[in-house]
Amino acid sequence: MSRLQNKTVVITGAATGIGQATVELFAKEGATVLCADVNTEEMNKTAEKLNNNGGNVETFHVDVSSEESVTSFANKIKEEYGTIDVLFNNAGVDQEGGKVHEYPVELFDRIISVDLRGTFLTSKYLLPLMMENGGSIINTSSMSGRAADLDRSGYNAAKGGITNFTKAMAIDYARQGIRVNSLSPGTIETPLIDELAGSKEEEMGQKFRDANKWVTPLGRLGRPDEMAKVALFLASDDSSYVTGEDITADGGIMAYTWPGKMLIDEQWKKETE
Ligand code: NAI
Repeated sequence: MSRLQNKTVVITGAATGIGQATVELFAKEGATVLCADVNTEEMNKTAEKLNNNGGNVETFHVDVSSEESVTSFANKIKEEYGTIDVLFNNAGVDQEGGKVHEYPVELFDRIISVDLRGTFLTSKYLLPLMMENGGSIINTSSMSGRAADLDRSGYNAAKGGITNFTKAMAIDYARQGIRVNSLSPGTIETPLIDELAGSKEEEMGQKFRDANKWVTPLGRLGRPDEMAKVALFLASDDSSYVTGEDITADGGIMAYTWPGKMLIDEQWKKETE
């Protein structure tokens, strides 16, 4: 299958986790993949591996929160490629900051500026490269954009913003043939989770993962390649009549009201372990 043959795709946050898995899948599906991230080392390793196997992957050092960095990137790819077909706004950071009255202003600014402002900046400066031929924009939001987490109001604000910003762009550019959707992952095993909750090897990290399995109907964390497949659906013509939509891929967490019986049911406990 080559669902992205002859398509030029930009992926931000391409170095690790969901972004990296998407670079790999999109390259296999025939796309020319332009990777943007602040972590050049990891990005280059993936690009080298894929290019050695017939892929067409180029990497760019881009800080999505910096207008200067994004405009310079947009100018470079305009010169080199002219147009693009798909933009995957996936770069993001997350960190706990405590309750709002004690939440550090710098942390709030940082999360908003990478996750939300970054999505705005890359969209603003890359949309002109899609306006002639149409295309697809996918923004990585989160289930944390649909409901809230303890001590993470900055992330909740940023991701909630992305979900609705997606709808605004979907309307603004529908008549130019540009579809805009968001992908809202649940808990996915990536370096972001290691940073947020501790790695699998750490006690707190393990506790976090066990608790997650308990409240996730499918009984496990998600994998980056599972998010890449949703992104592929949204990037390709398979979703040609889908725009302004948020697709949650969370193993079923957002499907229930409160954990209720899950917390005490013996069968549920057995199946979780
Ligand atoms: P990750 O940490 O592996 O990937 C994030 C990528 O963004 C990294 O490659 C990082 O270098 C890059 N990045 C960070 N700041 C940047 C900047 N200023 N400019 C350019 N690139 C920058 O984590 P993951 O999980 O793959 O995250 C990808 C997206 O998925 C993020 O938007 C995250 O918020 C979102 N997400 C992740 C979930 C999870 O459970 N892992 C759940 C819901 C959403």
